[in-house]
Amino acid sequence: SVVKASLKNKPDYAAPRLRNLSVNNLPSAVRRFVEKSVDLCAPADVHVMDGSEAENRLIVEKLLADGTIVKLPKYKNSYLTRTDPKDVARVESRTFISTKNKCDAIPTPASDKIKGTLGNWMSPEELERVVQDRFPKSMSGRTMFVIPFSMGPVGGPMSKIGVQLTDSPYVAASMRIMTRIGEPVLDRLSKGEDFVRALHSVGRRQNMLPSWPCDPERTVILHKPESNEIISYGSGYGGNSLLGKKCFALRIGSTIARREGWLAEHMLIVGITSPDGAKRYICAAFPSACGKTNLAMMQAALPGYKVECVGDDIAWLKYNPKTKMLHAINPEAGFFGVAPGTNWKTNPNAMATMESNSMFTNVGQTSDGGVWWEGMEPPAEGVTITDWLGKPYDGSSVAAHPNSRFTCPASQCPIIDPLWEAGEGVPISAILFGGRRPEGVPLVYEAFNWEHGVMVGAGMRSESTAAAEHQGKQIMHDPFAMRPFFGYNFGDYLAHWLSQESRHGDIVLPKIFHVNWFRKDEQGKFLWPGFGENIRVLDWILRRIDGDCSILESTPIGYVPKENSINVEGLSPTPNMKELLSVPKKFWQREAEAIETYLKEQVDKDVPEPILEQIAKLKERLSE
Ligand code: GTP
Ligand code: MN
Ligand code: MN
Repeated sequence: SVVKASLKNKPDYAAPRLRNLSVNNLPSAVRRFVEKSVDLCAPADVHVMDGSEAENRLIVEKLLADGTIVKLPKYKNSYLTRTDPKDVARVESRTFISTKNKCDAIPTPASDKIKGTLGNWMSPEELERVVQDRFPKSMSGRTMFVIPFSMGPVGGPMSKIGVQLTDSPYVAASMRIMTRIGEPVLDRLSKGEDFVRALHSVGRRQNMLPSWPCDPERTVILHKPESNEIISYGSGYGGNSLLGKKCFALRIGSTIARREGWLAEHMLIVGITSPDGAKRYICAAFPSACGKTNLAMMQAALPGYKVECVGDDIAWLKYNPKTKMLHAINPEAGFFGVAPGTNWKTNPNAMATMESNSMFTNVGQTSDGGVWWEGMEPPAEGVTITDWLGKPYDGSSVAAHPNSRFTCPASQCPIIDPLWEAGEGVPISAILFGGRRPEGVPLVYEAFNWEHGVMVGAGMRSESTAAAEHQGKQIMHDPFAMRPFFGYNFGDYLAHWLSQESRHGDIVLPKIFHVNWFRKDEQGKFLWPGFGENIRVLDWILRRIDGDCSILESTPIGYVPKENSINVEGLSPTPNMKELLSVPKKFWQREAEAIETYLKEQVDKDVPEPILEQIAKLKERLSE
């Protein structure tokens, strides 16, 4: 065929040429962006993506030829990639927000001696130097892909579009799974719709792996919220390179949301139908690798409950005048999930979603053409494993990197919600905050009101995980699970959350809860079985949404389930509910102190007064 023949000659992607998708035909604003970036990065070729199957086949062939991916014959149309071992996670220390005024991007700590931990700022001048230091000719010899993409269903009232330029065919193929790309988006662009400009290059350095070019020493992820621009250099890892996700949907997204009055959050969205047939949607914000994907696709262990998934990582929430509620859309089209720990028991729906059309990154490979990672069911007799570094796996180290991931289309999820692509989103009845708290934090508690709930979000803490470069298992502050993803000053973010209550006089705000699946006993074992059994906690939450006041007990930190009000029928062993729901006073006095100190040190004068008042009230209740 014409397509095949042209591929043989040179790596140009002929199919779209046939469809007349050349740079010359791009809408002028897009064309200017492409031409400027071509001048800077000097790619050998430019390919405008149409999102077609034929085009994807060509990209996959190129990736196979480069040795970036290998085919996994056990599954349909699925591939494994091994990254450079230095390029395996997000790099928070190299992620910057660039604004004219520093205080627009990050809070100013109370003193010079305190290092800010709520984001990094870079001046526009410094950004220019950093770009000029890295991007000139960075794409030479490579094809630049032009990816028109939509976050949210194309043309939806809450959706936004972007154009990503990248020299990584792996990124191009992954963007096709994670976002809606191609011609429908080009149509929107032709109508003059505004778009986020996202430039990405894996860069170059000495002794690059031909299969995974990158420049880890000089990686930077830059955001310019004042002009809706993202510039990412040196990394091919998803969180740094699939710019629709954390960079657009959260960092740039949160700044657009602030301007337009809505919220862009690190939250899953899930629909739950209880046995009486009532369906409610909830959102939950947990830090990276703390259980969003698992809760979003949960196989409910209680009979009569049906759980359906809208999204597993990001939610855009906006007041809907018809229902008076916050409505949420999932701006993504795929899942980029943590592999280790995922299996047919803990998350069967994720396992089923990734049975075809999926990309696996840094997992182990089985000799029968499949994948394997820690926590997965053991492979069949006689099957051997190659680890994520390409070496034979003998059990002395891990087979999969702790932050290894699967990338798969959300549409393949067996329990995808019928409204997951509804342009106006789904109405949200509750927001859950949570994290990994081995000690002191009860299984679930409810905030007294919106302001208190916002304080609970501000006070979130969690054990660090492999999702970013932090070492060990320290308990870190991670307000709203957004610490790595704020696009603007966290103090202003808090004020924006608080303003939701007054912004629309008639708003019916979601109830706010805090959950913790990760409390441990003295032996270091989880007290709660988690996963599908978490429906027992959701069941309590749903009854609270219905206004059942007979199931709660007031404590200094919020409403906690009354004894025996969480259904533990059929659980064996019976969990120690007394311990799971206890609110140790000493622990919470220290906790309240830590939250107050953190906010005062880190956010100083930008902490909204109502938050400080809520902390003062908490301390008062704890001293009674
Ligand atoms: P990101 O995609 O990085 O934002 O993380 P996430 O919040 O989606 O985390 P995910 O659901 O992938 O869970 C991360 C790890 O936590 C996996 O290894 C899970 O097996 C484990 N996990 C999830 N839910 C539970 C739970 O209820 N109990 C326990 N003990 N572990 C859980
Ligand atoms: Mn995430
Ligand atoms: Mn996830």
